[in-house]
Amino acid sequence: MSILKVSRLGHPVLREKAKLLSPAVLEKPEIQTLIDNMIETMFEYHGVGLAAPQVHESLMLAVIESEGERGRIPLTVLVNPVVTLMEGEMIEDWEGCLSIPDLRGRVARHARLQVEALDRRGKPMKFVAEGFFARVIQHEYDHLMGGVYLDRMGDLHTLTHLEEMKRYWMPEPEPSEPER
Ligand code: NI
Repeated sequence: MSILKVSRLGHPVLREKAKLLSPAVLEKPEIQTLIDNMIETMFEYHGVGLAAPQVHESLMLAVIESEGERGRIPLTVLVNPVVTLMEGEMIEDWEGCLSIPDLRGRVARHARLQVEALDRRGKPMKFVAEGFFARVIQHEYDHLMGGVYLDRMGDLHTLTHLEEMKRYWMPEPEPSEPER
């Protein structure tokens, strides 16, 4: 497996609508290797999701996984996803993107959605996702449609570099116990 080069904002591939993957193409070894490499690349850069356009491949393919700091998500490979947003609450929270390094911004996302997609073997799946999982799916699905999270920010005033976010936007840490 190898770690892939991540495309950064400004590269045209991030603004293209990705192409559907036919089941015959999906089973090809080079596409299966691409999926493995995307997973490894996501882990390497501590991402919780990675879409194929972020590794310069304009394909309807995304990988997602979270260890649980903001919600645990099992490793999920989405091929040709169709996302249906569900009525109800919107939740605003911080987002970042491996293609837009060192920045964070607050984005309102739907709390619940339904996904229909193929898994990496071409098997159809359908499920409802909520909360952080729903947020990550919306973020990755935007990539497949040629979007980035900045497009979803109603207000750019919360856009901040990571270091400044920790310094100015995060609640004060609890005072530590005095040394004994
Ligand atoms: Ni992203």
